[in-house]
Amino acid sequence: MLPTEIKESLTRRIETASHPPELAVDVMFAIQDHYGWLTDEAMEEAGAILGMDPLKLEELATFYTFLYREPVGKYVIHLCDSVICWMDGYESLRDHIARKLGIGMGETTPDGLFTLLPVCCIGYCDRSPAMLINKKVYGFLTPEKIDAIFEKLRTEAQSTERGTAEAPHE
Ligand code: FES
Repeated sequence: MLPTEIKESLTRRIETASHPPELAVDVMFAIQDHYGWLTDEAMEEAGAILGMDPLKLEELATFYTFLYREPVGKYVIHLCDSVICWMDGYESLRDHIARKLGIGMGETTPDGLFTLLPVCCIGYCDRSPAMLINKKVYGFLTPEKIDAIFEKLRTEAQSTERGTAEAPHE
């Protein structure tokens, strides 16, 4: 169940909105931030807060790439597979990531750390090939750069587990 403070803060936003359904995506993102992904329970809670049929929300959730209706890892890698990145080596980078992490598109590493997903152009075409991990964008990707990024994230995750993280990854 959502903590009271999150629920109250979302409810306050809804109460002041002239057309609450316009906040549906924002509400789902806020709830996803809490759970990590949108469980069935989360969709019910979003529906209750918004006064909307969860089935309507389901339609929205399946439309938005960054709303997850299945469990994802701590770090969600969205590798751009649009035309510029595709021309600049998308396939070989995708294969490199798959080898490195032992997962294919749509899969999560057994340790729950990384999920690999495709994404349409993220506006980094002048620095392609590019990817997003959580909310951070990475460009001019090479296999070496990707390895270093994953290493850094693994270290960060271990530090978080030990409670010694200095700063959250954005
Ligand atoms: S095509 Fe990949 S960032 Fe635009």
